Amino acid sequence: MRITVVGTGYVGLVSGACLAELGHEVTCVDKDKAKIARLLRGELPIHEDGLPAMVARQAAAGRLRFSVRLPREPADLALIAVGTPPAAHDHSADLSAVHAAAEAVAAHQPRGRPLVLAVKSTVPVGTGDVVERLVRRLRPDGSVTVVSNPEFLREGSAIADFLEPDRIVVGTACARARALMREVYRPLIERGSAFVATERCSAEMIKYAANAFLAVKIAFINEMADLCEAADADIAEVSQGMGMDRRIGSAFLRPGPGYGGSCFPKDTEALLATAHQHGVQLRLVEGTVAANEGRKRGLGRRVLAAAGNVHDRPVAVLGATFKPGTDDVRESPALSVIAALRRAGAQVRVFDPVGLAQARQVLDGVAFARGPYDCVRGAHCVVVATEWPEFLRLDFRRIAALMSGRTVVDLRNCLPDAKLEAAGLRLVGIGRRE
Ligand code: UGA
Repeated sequence: MRITVVGTGYVGLVSGACLAELGHEVTCVDKDKAKIARLLRGELPIHEDGLPAMVARQAAAGRLRFSVRLPREPADLALIAVGTPPAAHDHSADLSAVHAAAEAVAAHQPRGRPLVLAVKSTVPVGTGDVVERLVRRLRPDGSVTVVSNPEFLREGSAIADFLEPDRIVVGTACARARALMREVYRPLIERGSAFVATERCSAEMIKYAANAFLAVKIAFINEMADLCEAADADIAEVSQGMGMDRRIGSAFLRPGPGYGGSCFPKDTEALLATAHQHGVQLRLVEGTVAANEGRKRGLGRRVLAAAGNVHDRPVAVLGATFKPGTDDVRESPALSVIAALRRAGAQVRVFDPVGLAQARQVLDGVAFARGPYDCVRGAHCVVVATEWPEFLRLDFRRIAALMSGRTVVDLRNCLPDAKLEAAGLRLVGIGRRE
């Protein structure tokens, strides 16, 4: 099948490469000339394990192309995977890029030649209807069918998430378009992924509802962690005991410094904006957004309480990204903790295995270390803000010898307690007794 993917961000690039891997002929289009030039040189704009090799393999095989222009050969399917940033006036999603991409693709398609236009960008319920009206003006013969096909991949495990999804959601009332989408994903369906055919509006809602629910789960376990701390219970035990109930499930019950990234914060706000437009109040989602914001601020205070006086003292922060496996620092809780430490007058030194370049762009007044040991040298206190696997394997005796103080604050409860204790370090975690 011939597929055009518009937008070479996380979703577009991973989808394009993986669809080529499934045997389709894919052209990834982006109006950002510099980005396309870099992609043509094999340089990827994002950090994702396995993606560079996959892109190189598929490009060499001729199945994956990059261009600033829509391809001359007509496509069977166009995936819209452009960004939907928060709008300037409120928190709703700015859909101008989605609308522009859909119009460009429809106008480019030869008249009468059928095209399925699938929106993969995360868009509010009802967007497909608006896109369809725009497209109908350009192709009144109905040859372009607008479908919703949300994507559920996570940064850091994007390829596995795309190639082994729990479900593929396709929202359309058109049987022909549904059959085409089923054909696109046939190898995944044959390997066991469920194909969920819905109304277009429902598919759009599923994406937001799923992200909001996961955000609620995280906010909930973080609240329980606070109570565990106060009541002398241990959140790891509570989380395990809860998660073994299959109705609850163990995923997304890891307490931490609050959720970050480009999706949960943006999508929960956008869902609230949609609800507001419809005159519906989403109390749980409102509470989740507020709780998560409060948590990011609260943890800054907590770190300061554990660290004692940090004024003019070096404090090491290990991890800047919002989660491991990515270089993305957008809405990262680490940034809030760093801001709190700076306000308290600490000399902050940061290390992240892959996110340093991104961190440098958003952080002022902090030093950056070349490695974890360099970062903790002379530190009064060490804060682990992201659970990178390499932090778990550090030599904690060496860390203890390098530090001036002995407090390690583990905001992800990821460090091996026994090893820190053996090294004479004081470990402060979350949701459990010290
Ligand atoms: C999220 C969803 O998980 C994907 O399904 C979705 O496709 C994506 O958003 C999107 O809308 O594009 P992502 O933001 O990449 O993916 O990362 P997650 O693994 O979901 O983590 C989000 C945040 O929650 C991170 O800050 C992470 O540290 C935090 N988290 C996650 C916890 O604090 N505890 C947990 O148990 C799980």
